[in-house]
Amino acid sequence: MSLNKGRVEMFRSVWSKLRVPVRPGPEGLELYRDQMKRLSRKDILVLGATPELVDMAIELKAEKVVSVERNPEIMEAMRQLGEKDWSKVQLVTGDWLEERPEFHASFDCAVCDGGLLFLQYPAQWERLFGLVCSYLKPGGIFVAKEWAEPEGQRDYERLVSSMISSFETANKNKNRKELIEAYKYLASELRLATFINTTKTDGSFDQDILLRRIDPLVEELTRKFPDSEMIEITEAALKYLARSQPGTTDVVAGARYEAADKLLRAAGFRSEHFPLPDRPVAEANYMFVAHK
Ligand SMILES: C[S@@+](CC[C@H](N)C(=O)[O-])C[C@H]1O[C@@H](n2cnc3c(N)ncnc32)[C@H](O)[C@@H]1O
Repeated sequence: MSLNKGRVEMFRSVWSKLRVPVRPGPEGLELYRDQMKRLSRKDILVLGATPELVDMAIELKAEKVVSVERNPEIMEAMRQLGEKDWSKVQLVTGDWLEERPEFHASFDCAVCDGGLLFLQYPAQWERLFGLVCSYLKPGGIFVAKEWAEPEGQRDYERLVSSMISSFETANKNKNRKELIEAYKYLASELRLATFINTTKTDGSFDQDILLRRIDPLVEELTRKFPDSEMIEITEAALKYLARSQPGTTDVVAGARYEAADKLLRAAGFRSEHFPLPDRPVAEANYMFVAHK
């Protein structure tokens, strides 16, 4: 299949401008590493092409690394962002929810950073957990990160203005390189801040509220930070990330660990919960390690 080079470059550029909490942070990476390291054999399935996770599997001398991503241009962009030699990685273009009989009982570990956000809860989570369980060998593990708003009161508008003013105060005297790097973190944090108070009782995000927030936020940030590199960062996090269709976003579900655990148990896993300190809402990003 021939790839559109312009779109590959666009995805590469967008992803290179994202940071925690969209990308995996140090604590999350440590947990993925710790879990992979314990395995005596490492046949690893990466759901999505998160470059840090493919690189990690290669660095830990995994015997097999397979990455499944539905968008071939994103897959190619991620391959270019990877820092290790991906020549032996099997890059599969396809939907995680489509059953792959050739995967049955053939992995020691499956990892997925932020992918559950893209799947409807509960039906698509149930489907994925069932498939992943069948793809793992006995004793295999499934390690994933998801975002769900913890208990407690939060005010979106107030949080956003305090994040922006803290950024301005903290970076007043920074050199340009440090300022740009700090802005990448701010933009990624703001993208996840837009989820605040948008989760409906069925676990789905209210897309109308999300869009009513994201578009004005792009305008506000562009006005406040008109530097061309900062505009590119704003647009990467808020205009292009997970926005493949007009009028909605690709991120659809923010279910908590307890809800995930219930479905994991039904699929045949027993799981552990690892809340992450990622900003702007500590413990909203959480991980689970599910044992088959
Ligand atoms: C793995 S997640 C999150 C990215 C991650 N947090 C990172 O830092 O790289 C995003 C990717 O999942 C892919 N994706 C979402 N749903 C999918 C599905 N059902 N099948 C295959 N790929 C899917 C999207 O195309 C997107 O590139």
